[in-house]
Amino acid sequence: MNMMPSLGMGTFRLEGKVAYGAVKMALDAGYRHIDTAQIYGNEAEVGRAITDSGVARDTIFLTTKVWLDNLSEQAFIPSVKESLAKLQVEAVDLLLIHWPDVAGKVAMATYLAQLAEAQQQGQTRHIGVSNFTNAQLSQAIEVLGEGRIMTNQVEVHPYLQNRRVIEHCQARNIQVTGFMPLAVGKVLEDEVLQSIAANHQASVAQVVLAWQLQQGLVTIPSSTKRGNLETNLQATALELTADEMARIAQLDRGERIANPDFSPAWD
Ligand SMILES: NC(=O)c1ccc[n+]([C@@H]2O[C@H](COP(=O)([O-])OP(=O)(O)OC[C@H]3O[C@@H](n4cnc5c(N)ncnc54)[C@H](OP(=O)(O)O)[C@@H]3O)[C@@H](O)[C@H]2O)c1
Repeated sequence: MNMMPSLGMGTFRLEGKVAYGAVKMALDAGYRHIDTAQIYGNEAEVGRAITDSGVARDTIFLTTKVWLDNLSEQAFIPSVKESLAKLQVEAVDLLLIHWPDVAGKVAMATYLAQLAEAQQQGQTRHIGVSNFTNAQLSQAIEVLGEGRIMTNQVEVHPYLQNRRVIEHCQARNIQVTGFMPLAVGKVLEDEVLQSIAANHQASVAQVVLAWQLQQGLVTIPSSTKRGNLETNLQATALELTADEMARIAQLDRGERIANPDFSPAWD
């Protein structure tokens, strides 16, 4: 599929039968955008769920991400081929560099050349990056050229709104994909969000997802439960007022969840 649906399903932490079942439920509920990664260890289950779902491959937007250990010239393309085999597809729709290599084992120009090569060889329709800072994204645009990078997938939720990164990407026509949109459940307890949800007879999760969509972001919440998968998807129909958007903007407290020791110097 060429276009990235604005609301997709994340699969981080989902393993084995749980991953298989959740992806199958999501496709059945109407999701047409699935986000996985080599490091999640569930590409085979995601692939089986897609195949068994009976949903036409060309109606699904499928993303995977190349792990840090596979960025070298020798490892990159073989690792992508292994992902495609596990996913049971000829190509993914989007291939991301999962994290920039801040340790500098592989130069950015080297792994971005491999990313472009994977696209050239037809292993992916689109290419992109994840967890890139503004400086790294600018560098990547210089290496690849304008108009090549589809998305920068970064952490965005009400407690980490990442506005500098969003502005930088949007000014360069690069789609921001917000990961961990629910802060892995933490924002669901928020009283401001709960009061906004009550205004709309919506769930807090729907409010948070609508807040992302209204900023022009793509969002990829994860759930293993049919009820949550279904109601989350309905967030596309929810419209927040300017005042509600402003109240949510005030909740930012720079609270980052995905912050491993190999993180770049965040903006
Ligand atoms: N690029 C990166 O480095 C990176 C890093 C992290 C994540 N990601 C991507 O982003 C996706 C989303 O992040 P995430 O999975 O870590 O966290 P998340 O989507 O913010 O939160 C998932 C959690 O929220 C719960 N949940 C979902 N919908 C709910 C609802 N309507 N009501 C109550 N609880 C609900 C889920 O539990 P139930 O299963 O019980 O519904 C699950 O525990 C990942 O799956 C992954 O694809 C990318």
